[in-house]
Amino acid sequence: MTKPFCFMLFLLLVSLLHCIKTSAQVPAAALSGPPNITAILEKGGQFTSFIRLLENTQQDDQINTQLNNSNQGLTVFAPTDNAFANLKSGTINSLSDQQKVQLVQFHILPTSMSTSQFQTASNPLRTQAGNSNDGEFPLNVTTSGNQVNLTTGVNEATVANTVFSGSNLAVYQVDQVLLPLDLFGSQAPAPAPSTPEKDVPVAATPKGSSTDASVDTSRALSLNHLALTMASSAISAFAAVSLL
Ligand SMILES: *[C@@H]1O[C@H](CO)[C@@H](O)[C@H](O)[C@H]1NC(C)=O
Ligand SMILES: *[C@@H]1O[C@H](CO)[C@@H](O)[C@H](O)[C@H]1NC(C)=O
Ligand SMILES: *[C@@H]1O[C@H](CO)[C@@H](O)[C@H](O)[C@H]1NC(C)=O
Ligand SMILES: *[C@@H]1O[C@H](CO)[C@@H](O)[C@H](O)[C@H]1NC(C)=O
Repeated sequence: MTKPFCFMLFLLLVSLLHCIKTSAQVPAAALSGPPNITAILEKGGQFTSFIRLLENTQQDDQINTQLNNSNQGLTVFAPTDNAFANLKSGTINSLSDQQKVQLVQFHILPTSMSTSQFQTASNPLRTQAGNSNDGEFPLNVTTSGNQVNLTTGVNEATVANTVFSGSNLAVYQVDQVLLPLDLFGSQAPAPAPSTPEKDVPVAATPKGSSTDASVDTSRALSLNHLALTMASSAISAFAAVSLL
């Protein structure tokens, strides 16, 4: 073997090793730091009304603090902008500040629930809004096959796709704002007839997946592909050498 050729081969092998090492590090980096609910929802792209409500009620900070301090985690049901648009106009504005906080807390469970846990959950679910007795803040889950619905006694929402799923936080998209009996029971609000959203049922998302994870996986995959390409060039180099 000539000296320059050996050197080239050496370079190839070094960069090959580097590629493998880099691809192994990608998923680990994605797990660092506590999750940020606002950033997660912003990434979802269709939760501006809910983000605004979270900010107005300071529940965004509350959620982030709880995530940092709790082992149980949280589940957040995030209504889409469409869901807010379907409300009778003035529905949110007619609430007092405290009621707005309760409305947001009604969308949060004090444990992180996976999609499969909905199938076996016992009703009513406990929300951050507190008392789940009839007439107060009951939230029931009903499932049928892959479909998961939430009923409040006032309205019913369908859980659509998983927005985020981490070790202590699960965020699911819902097609209706969940209206608790305590705030909306007597006045029987009539949400405008909603056009069904073409959402993927929740169970269609692979368990434990998240947008982050899939992005990182594809990056890792393309790095692995690169590594493979490098490896095959190294092999052809060897083949070339043996022919000399
Ligand atoms: C969370 O994300 C939002 C939006 O990206 C950002 O404005 C805010 O500073 C972040 N909060 C923390 C605690 O990092
Ligand atoms: C999370 O908690 C740790 C320790 O309790 C604290 O040092 C850190 O500042 C907190 N981080 C956030 C984003 O609140
Ligand atoms: C969920 O709600 C949708 C729309 O209201 C309804 O068609 C479906 O039958 C419900 N499914 C379950 C499991 O309750
Ligand atoms: C929720 O489920 C409980 C237990 O099955 C039931 O007693 C209650 O009436 C249900 N409430 C609503 C709002 O569906």
